[in-house]
Amino acid sequence: MACFRVLNRQLQLQATPTQSLLQAAEAAGEPWRRFCGSSALCGTCAVIVVDGQPAPARPREAMFIEGWGKQEGFRLGCQLKLAEGDVTVINCSDYEFDPDAIAAAALAAKQQISKETT
Ligand code: FES
Repeated sequence: MACFRVLNRQLQLQATPTQSLLQAAEAAGEPWRRFCGSSALCGTCAVIVVDGQPAPARPREAMFIEGWGKQEGFRLGCQLKLAEGDVTVINCSDYEFDPDAIAAAALAAKQQISKETT
C-alpha cells in the first residue's frame, strides 16, 4: 500500500487511493488542523508536496489553490489523494503558515530527498 510521508513530522501514513491525507492522518491518530471540516474552504490543512505524483486537484481544490496557493506544490491535505506511489509533503500549519518558513522547509525537504536518492 502506498503512503503519505510527512517529512517534517517524520511520519508515514498508509492510505488507499480513496483516502485523503487528512483522513489517513486521522486514522493514525495524528493531529491535523482542519477548521472547515474538509470542505476545501479554510486552508488550515495545507501542505506542500515535495516529492511524488499525487492525484490531480479536483475543481473545488483547484479554485482554492488558484487563490491561495502561491507556493509550488501547494495542496489541501483534506483533498490530497494518492495516485501512483508515495507522496511526500510538509505540513504548513507546523510553520504557522509563514511563507518564508514554509519555503525554507520545502527547500530543505527537497534537498534531503535528493540526498536520500543519490
Ligand atoms: S480542512 Fe479546510 S480546506 Fe482542508
